[in-house]
Parts: sequence; structure tokens; C-alpha cells
Amino acid sequence: MIKLAPSILSADFGNLAAEIKKVTALGAEYIHIDVMDGSFVPNITVGSPVVKKLRPVTEAVFDVHLMTEHPETQVAAFAEAGADIITFHIEATRHAHRLVQTIREAGCKVGVALNPGTPLTMLDELLTDIDMALIMTVNPGFGGQKFIATMPEKIAILRHTAEDNGLNLDIEVDGGINGETAGTVREAGANILVAGSAIYEAPDMAAAMEQIRNG
Ligand code: DX5
Ligand code: ZN
Repeated sequence: MIKLAPSILSADFGNLAAEIKKVTALGAEYIHIDVMDGSFVPNITVGSPVVKKLRPVTEAVFDVHLMTEHPETQVAAFAEAGADIITFHIEATRHAHRLVQTIREAGCKVGVALNPGTPLTMLDELLTDIDMALIMTVNPGFGGQKFIATMPEKIAILRHTAEDNGLNLDIEVDGGINGETAGTVREAGANILVAGSAIYEAPDMAAAMEQIRNG
């Protein structure tokens, strides 16, 4: 089943509670929270205190995407704040296997993100221990960038690998997903679709979400 994860990066940061309620009322299963530290990526966004204040707003899955250096230092705070899934970038840690365990011990599902230039082989030793792989379909750091057209092939290879190994792996995609690009990633085997600008900047949010889910 396809799940939608609207990214609050493109929402009105002055009214985040209302912005979250808008998309959950339209059926969004996940809320994608982009955490940027100004070092792994140039921008700075939100930290765990913001997540904690937003937690009572919805029962939707809080899908925290850490675009930070030293992601291991953030796990306890985001777990305590109410994250359901914590995803770290494989490029940001030397101790990925340990970090997978740390996230799980904190009571969260585990996601591992790969930048577009990072090969799938980086996941080889982790695949059986994680819940989700996040395939970046843009280079992280900004909303509203253009989808990288070679990424569906990467997604398809990962989906085949998961199936061949009998793994019930979630594959999330993030970056440049809209009504035009969603079909290619769904066909390739992605089942959780993040979209920021295509949802929050759409003239008709419901229609945009429907397009991404089924269009
Ligand atoms: C990019 C972030 C994305 C961003 C996607 O670094 O990880 O989650 O919000 O934005 P769009 O959907 O506008 O490409
Ligand atoms: Zn993201």
C-alpha cells in the first residue's frame, strides 16, 4: 500500500499544527519532518523541541529525516519527543550498525537514507536490520528541486534485492516527487512517498495528494 508523507519543509513554519492537520484530514499517513543542521546540509530547520510540541496534534506517523552530522547524538531527544521513525544518512556516520541498534533500542523504527550519489551496496550489511530505506531523489537540503531521473532504476534494484531476500522493506523516496514523477517511483517499488512543495504549494492540495498516490 502506498503511503503519503507530506514534508513540512514546504509548510508555513508559523502555523505548523494547522498545516499538519490539513494533510492528515486529506489522508496523509505520515508527517515527514526534515531536520537540517547547517553542516550536513546548508540549511537549519527544526529540532526535537518542535517535534515534541507537534506530537499532540496528530496520531499520524512522525517520520523524522535527520540530515545532520553525528546523527547518533540526536536519537534520544527525537525518540523522547515522539518520533516514530528515525532515518539517518549513511554518509553521516562511521558506525551505522550501532546507530541502527541505538534507534531501535530507543523504541523507534529505523530508516537509512542514501544520497543520490551513494551506491546501494552501502546498505548490504544493514538490510536485514532496518525497517526502511530512504532513496533520495534529489540532493538533500532544499525543497522544490528537480527529480533525478536515474533514481527509479536504483529503487527497482533495491526492491528486487528486498524481495529476493524475503524482506518486507519499506522504500521511501524524497525529493521532486509530484503528480508527474510519482508514477515512476511507485512502479519501481517505492511505497512511501515524501512530497513537500508539490503538496503544500499546490492550488488544490487534495488533488495533488491524489495524483501522487494514484495518478
Ligand atoms: C530535501 C528534503 C525533502 C524536501 C522535499 O532535502 O529531505 O524532504 O522537503 O521537497 P520537495 O518535495 O519539494 O522536493
Ligand atoms: Zn526529507
